[in-house]
Amino acid sequence: MLLVSSLFLSLAAQTLAAGSINWHTNCKSISNVSSVPLNCANFSVPLDYTDAKSKKTLNLTLVRIDAVKKPVKGSILFNPGGPGDSAVRLVADGPQELLAFTGGHFNIIGFDSRGVNKTLPYACFKPGQADLFAPVLLNSSDTALGQNFANAEIQASLCQEATKDFGELVGTAFVARDMARIVDALGEDGLLRYWGFSYGTVLGATFSAMFPNKVGRVVLDGNVNVHDYYAGQTAGNVEKLDDVVAGFYSGCVSSSRCALARTTQDANNLANIVENTLESLKFTPIPLVVKGTPLVLDYTTVKNLMFTSMYKISEWSTLSQVLQGLVSGNITEVVGAVAALGGGGVPQIQSLFGIECGDGALRTDNVTDLEPLIARLSEQSQWGGLDSGVTNAIECAPWKQKAKEVYSGDWQVHTKNPLMLIGSELDPVTPLSNAVNNSASFSGSAVLNHNGYGHTSLSQLSLCTIKAVQAYLNDGVLPAAGTICQPTVTLFSNQSQAQILGLIANSTTAAKDKRDEDHDILAAVGRLRRRVI
Ligand SMILES: *[C@@H]1O[C@H](CO)[C@@H](O)[C@H](O)[C@H]1NC(C)=O
Ligand SMILES: *[C@@H]1O[C@H](CO)[C@@H](O)[C@H](O)[C@H]1NC(C)=O
Ligand SMILES: *[C@@H]1O[C@H](CO)[C@@H](O)[C@H](O)[C@H]1NC(C)=O
Ligand SMILES: *[C@@H]1O[C@H](CO)[C@@H](O)[C@H](O)[C@H]1NC(C)=O
Ligand SMILES: *[C@@H]1O[C@H](CO)[C@@H](O)[C@H](O)[C@H]1NC(C)=O
Ligand SMILES: *[C@@H]1O[C@H](CO)[C@@H](O)[C@H](O)[C@H]1NC(C)=O
Ligand SMILES: *[C@@H]1O[C@H](CO)[C@@H](O)[C@H](O)[C@H]1NC(C)=O
Ligand SMILES: *[C@@H]1O[C@H](CO)[C@@H](O)[C@H](O)[C@H]1NC(C)=O
Ligand SMILES: *[C@@H]1O[C@H](CO)[C@@H](O)[C@H](O)[C@H]1NC(C)=O
Ligand SMILES: *[C@@H]1O[C@H](CO)[C@@H](O)[C@H](O)[C@H]1NC(C)=O
Repeated sequence: MLLVSSLFLSLAAQTLAAGSINWHTNCKSISNVSSVPLNCANFSVPLDYTDAKSKKTLNLTLVRIDAVKKPVKGSILFNPGGPGDSAVRLVADGPQELLAFTGGHFNIIGFDSRGVNKTLPYACFKPGQADLFAPVLLNSSDTALGQNFANAEIQASLCQEATKDFGELVGTAFVARDMARIVDALGEDGLLRYWGFSYGTVLGATFSAMFPNKVGRVVLDGNVNVHDYYAGQTAGNVEKLDDVVAGFYSGCVSSSRCALARTTQDANNLANIVENTLESLKFTPIPLVVKGTPLVLDYTTVKNLMFTSMYKISEWSTLSQVLQGLVSGNITEVVGAVAALGGGGVPQIQSLFGIECGDGALRTDNVTDLEPLIARLSEQSQWGGLDSGVTNAIECAPWKQKAKEVYSGDWQVHTKNPLMLIGSELDPVTPLSNAVNNSASFSGSAVLNHNGYGHTSLSQLSLCTIKAVQAYLNDGVLPAAGTICQPTVTLFSNQSQAQILGLIANSTTAAKDKRDEDHDILAAVGRLRRRVI
């Protein structure tokens, strides 16, 4: 292990300054059920950083929970990704989890960035309209690409019209500037402590490139390749997707908690059976009315459900029920399990476009220009390269707005303190190689290989990974080069929370109070995991 700078020595030596944020405790509008006291604030920032003459401001909603252990080592900002997922909600819903996760010595802060939730809410459609423009998967029909592209052009026009006053002000560079202002106003040491997941890695990397001297501790978990993101090749990296799907089948046949194992105990056979079922759904979709709500189970719906379930191993058991119902023709089983999965919907989808499409460089009104990207993704994954990877790039290609500021440096960054990046070996959209690629931009940064399935290190938990993050946040200790953390939770695990905790406690040789700490961490992370997308 490498010991990096002594950030917290200097922090501990000074008492934390009061800061200039007007915190108060009436946070009912954020959460009225929080298990710990919340502090909240409106924080005013310039609306448009590129317009020096404008006096217009924007209020960001901030929420804070206080550290529970002394000494207090400052505040950590979180971003749950999306883009478009609400960090205020992440913090308000899981305060104890985040405290335990980070070790208890830090205040936890979330803020809804531009275009997210109630901060410049990004909505383009009239009620009911959004469904008209939902893309179908490219492999569902050979007319899908052209249709999707036409829909994307209409969507881009509607979004431009609906958000014309602020649509170019929600980009990542402005959010990084907002974050710098928050860090200053906290009255701590002027350095950012941060943990970003998925798109949150783009934000963290962008901040670190724009404000290298303000980098305190920055954890990037589930890395989006920043070059691809800003180039508008927004689809993610699906080079490990086939391995993840194969892991689903092989984990399934050896588990009593996989309903699909009733069909066959042979993983390859199982894969073929499911694929044949998907193929038949292209031509004979299943029409349903569930409690008055129409639902067509077609190739796109079911494959999307499979794809999004690959993000979180906690959903694999339920996914297997959906698929078992389909292959055996038991629609009751399908409907029950689909409801349990929440339909696989993506929240705040229009925020995603507003931010991601505005940031991305690729713009074209000629669908032919997308062919190189489509070819690249198809090469990365046989199972879903064409289906899962391309959608965002198609939505963004005809986008009409352009973020007023986009980071334009060379991504050769010397930060005041080194970054920690986490890559999961078997992440369906942001695999380890992305973390390695991003790390090359930040001198002195280190990559932790989290050898688990799913999106970010929160999918298949590892006590080793959690401890490594805590060592970095608390003491500035980076994982040694080549560190691999094995997951603690198994696939299709039926372990109760208590059992997992027992395993963890037994696996550690440390003193009793240390074991109790492990219990806290795992219990907390187990709860958190179910909430993060
Ligand atoms: C928006 O924020 C409120 C709390 O301020 C939260 O209750 C709500 O769930 C958030 N919405 C989304 C879509 O995240
Ligand atoms: C809490 O807020 C939600 C939505 O804002 C509301 O539906 C619920 O009734 C409130 N609960 C309490 C106990 O005030
Ligand atoms: C923030 O400001 C809005 C009005 O701009 C107000 O409704 C809200 O209560 C304020 N919230 C906080 C936490 O100060
Ligand atoms: C921001 O919030 C403050 C305090 O709640 C309020 O006085 C002010 O009007 C708000 N500004 C905007 C632009 O909403
Ligand atoms: C269909 O699935 C339901 C719910 O899982 C189950 O109760 C029922 O026995 C199944 N029917 C058949 C014919 O297997
Ligand atoms: C689209 O681009 C292709 C390849 O660059 C070109 O051959 C074609 O003519 C273009 N189509 C239109 C409508 O401009
Ligand atoms: C598309 O579907 C066909 C079957 O119709 C399948 O053979 C092929 O592998 C799929 N291609 C991709 C890239 O998903
Ligand atoms: C990182 O990824 C970009 C985009 O895919 C690529 O052009 C670049 O060569 C990669 N850099 C490294 C150091 O691997
Ligand atoms: C988990 O499954 C095993 C059989 O594979 C069973 O013996 C055990 O009781 C189950 N545990 C729980 C908590 O359901
Ligand atoms: C942990 O160790 C105790 C004592 O050796 C044992 O009774 C218990 O079954 C173990 N728990 C697990 C989950 O292995």
